[in-house]
Amino acid sequence: MNYGLISDPALKQNECLVIGIIADAPFPVEQFFPQEDQDLAVRLSSKIHKAGEQIGQAELSGQSVLFIHCGTKEQYHAANLKKRLSETIDNLLKQRITSATLCFPKLSSHSPDHQLEQMIVQVSLQTYQMLDFKSTHKKPSLLTNIDFYLPESSEQALKNGISIAAGIKLTRDLANLPANICTPTYLGEQAEALAAEYNSTVHSKVYGVQEIQDMGMNTLLAVAQGSSQPPRLIDIQYRGAGDAAPIILVGKGITFDSGGMSIKPANAMDEMKYDMCGAASVLGVIKACAELKLPINITGIIPSCENMINGEAVKPGDIVTTLSGQTVEILNTDAEGRLILADALTYAERYNPRFVIDVATLTGGVIIALGTVASGLMTQDEELADLIMRASKESGDKVWRLPLDEEYQEALESPLADMINASFDRSASSVTAACFLSRFTEKFRWAHLDIAGVAWVFGKKRNATGRPVPLLIQLIRDALFTH
Ligand code: BES
Ligand code: MN
Ligand code: ZN
Repeated sequence: MNYGLISDPALKQNECLVIGIIADAPFPVEQFFPQEDQDLAVRLSSKIHKAGEQIGQAELSGQSVLFIHCGTKEQYHAANLKKRLSETIDNLLKQRITSATLCFPKLSSHSPDHQLEQMIVQVSLQTYQMLDFKSTHKKPSLLTNIDFYLPESSEQALKNGISIAAGIKLTRDLANLPANICTPTYLGEQAEALAAEYNSTVHSKVYGVQEIQDMGMNTLLAVAQGSSQPPRLIDIQYRGAGDAAPIILVGKGITFDSGGMSIKPANAMDEMKYDMCGAASVLGVIKACAELKLPINITGIIPSCENMINGEAVKPGDIVTTLSGQTVEILNTDAEGRLILADALTYAERYNPRFVIDVATLTGGVIIALGTVASGLMTQDEELADLIMRASKESGDKVWRLPLDEEYQEALESPLADMINASFDRSASSVTAACFLSRFTEKFRWAHLDIAGVAWVFGKKRNATGRPVPLLIQLIRDALFTH
């Protein structure tokens, strides 16, 4: 998609001109139409009365015109604009429009730059398609050009919106790829490709089995040992601020989660190709940071492997020594995410990070608790929680905080080892998973995001959402102004 910003909609000819109307604000018809068309335009625009109503007219000043009602001044806020924009794009796609000018009124709650960025991200999300595996492209979207008219917004904001959208798209593309293509090796190659593309700011190091063994990342190895695909530990760094302490993002990169010996039911098991959405988000964020050229350092750490079964697969009851030296009794091989994250979190210590956030499709429990609306946020760091929740509000990429009190740690007690990897029952399973991770985060500030409910749309229309990339980008941009 091509995006542009225009300062005079009357001078721009696209196939369709979309104009948002606010009931109790004047409609500046002269900005859009020459004298001779103004009467008709005003008449049309007054035929819609309720938020969401649309009216179209072919061939007005040489374009199709679409008026969409945006409610009253008071009703017109970010969530409302989101709905109207979504209906508009639906309509343009249905009509097979190829180019459009979008003129939506300025929000009072946000800066025009923020509004423009959000609109670009939304249009890009909604027009996303993955056609790589279609032998015939049945209904590819024809929409290829969008111009925005939004007075006081800047070319820089246009660029920023496009940069963020590019990061989100990478995340979705990687997440949607099937597990026979998107293997740990493939993810490693993607990191190297990013480093090659942005060679002045992005650097990557991808560790193979031997190096993982030499380092002592035994829980990553334990999960990987039942698969013929070799594991990877990906270390990818965006350097925009010299030797400043990095913010570290750790992303769960299980490219397929069969459950291992504690095997999952067959129903919807295919969706466990999405168990690397945390990893995909980290790579998407790195790409966006590089595109945005942010003056900050971000390090992505991705432990990646398959959770499979063969004669060598890890067995329930096996005890493994983590990179941290703590021992784990692996009671349930399906609680594998926390195992690979444990070693990755310990690995993060070497960078003396400003703070660490791990991003993982970690538990089914978070879907029971929060559904597909909010990511689960768990941390005992109040300041970090505030930073994340603020970014969540600004980006519209929702999180909800769950507790992480000491009392929940009891569930992980083992009679033999330092801990078990999954508690005996499913109560508070998202919290006990975070408790497990917390044992590997003593040396830095840390928060955990469980994205199992939000990273992809389940079922027939399964599709990656790109979340929580918008949240993380917002957080990183906010962090430019805090310490
Ligand atoms: N990847 C799954 C979590 C998951 C399940 C994400 C469904 C999205 C949809 C994770 O590895 C897992 O299997 N978690 C178990 C942990 C349990 C065995 C303690 C779970 O949540 O059931
Ligand atoms: Mn699992
Ligand atoms: Zn998993």
